[in-house]
Amino acid sequence: MSTRYTELLGIDHPVVQDGMGPFRTTGLAAAVSNAGGLGSLSSPTASGARDGARELRAAIDECASLTGKPFAVNIPVDGKGHDSHSFTRAFLEVVVRARAADSAIASQLRAVTTSAGNPADHSAMIKDAGLVHQHKVGSTQHARKAVEQGADVVIASGYEMGGHTHSKPVHTFVLGPNITEAVDVPVLLSGGIRDGRGLAAALCVGAEGVAMGTRFIASDANTEWHPNYARAILDAREGDDVTYPGFFGPVRGLRNAGSELLGSIIENGTSTEDSLHEWKLAAMRKAQADGDTVDGLVLAGQVASALTEIVAVAELVPGMVRDAVRILDDLARRLPAAGVTSMS
Ligand SMILES: Cc1cc2nc3c(=O)[nH]c(=O)nc-3n(C[C@H](O)[C@H](O)[C@H](O)COP(=O)(O)O)c2cc1C
Repeated sequence: MSTRYTELLGIDHPVVQDGMGPFRTTGLAAAVSNAGGLGSLSSPTASGARDGARELRAAIDECASLTGKPFAVNIPVDGKGHDSHSFTRAFLEVVVRARAADSAIASQLRAVTTSAGNPADHSAMIKDAGLVHQHKVGSTQHARKAVEQGADVVIASGYEMGGHTHSKPVHTFVLGPNITEAVDVPVLLSGGIRDGRGLAAALCVGAEGVAMGTRFIASDANTEWHPNYARAILDAREGDDVTYPGFFGPVRGLRNAGSELLGSIIENGTSTEDSLHEWKLAAMRKAQADGDTVDGLVLAGQVASALTEIVAVAELVPGMVRDAVRILDDLARRLPAAGVTSMS
């Protein structure tokens, strides 16, 4: 399936694994890229600017050793690490230097996805380095602004997404067509996508691919999250998700004792900003590394309610494209037969 997006990135399938920091997604990114999609390394935002920069550089080398295909790096904007230094510029410099130092990495590391803030201060650096600039937004206004500032690709991520979501809730099926009408660059639809039906729907609203997070946590290539985390995602049902204050804005995760406790800590109002920041990081690690999905924070999207099994990335990515093509073909054949010749 060729779209402007696959052509721009030099990939086979318009299916992207989006960043899921502060966790490492190195093996996952390589698996998605090897499957013909685009994998993304995540920013180690919890490690601070200096240590995080070292970790990101190691992740770039490791990813390039696991795949010969294109991959991306996700860097949230304007965030502050626990040492209160902005990591955005530090991580961008790592990406630019890694490409300058190694021509193989330069040919593979094609894109930077900025998110969580205004990319205006960073767009020129990304573009000057010859990278494709993708920016993730939750509103049409931010999509327009990002394109004005030079973004090559917009990721339209609806409120139902996992992890950091948006302060003004606009859901995927409203946001997608709003944004594809408003901008000329390729748009990826994100938030709640799980299979080929989601890809077909994305194409129908004018997007040129999809980006997913939660689906990939419950996959065979996820080696960074404790199996209990993937289990909690598979066990989740509609209504089991909740939003709570994260680091850049609201975060979506599963409702559990950890999310309830966070609510009471915030309501008490006795924690300092720093101690709350540390508490949240520790609670996220408790779920992701130790597998305590009761007291830890389990970041995940609403799509968790629809996932029932661990999937193989090597089958999921091309399978989504096959299914999307079949669905669109079937519809094109069946609708005229049913007497539907025009839906306008
Ligand atoms: C555990 C987790 C961590 C995430 N961390 C980040 C992040 O560091 N940066 C970012 O831009 N998005 C982050 N996201 C959002 C994803 O990149 C993606 O936009 C989202 O998962 C898409 O919605 P979906 O979960 O319904 O597929 C995270 C999502 C999850 C589930």
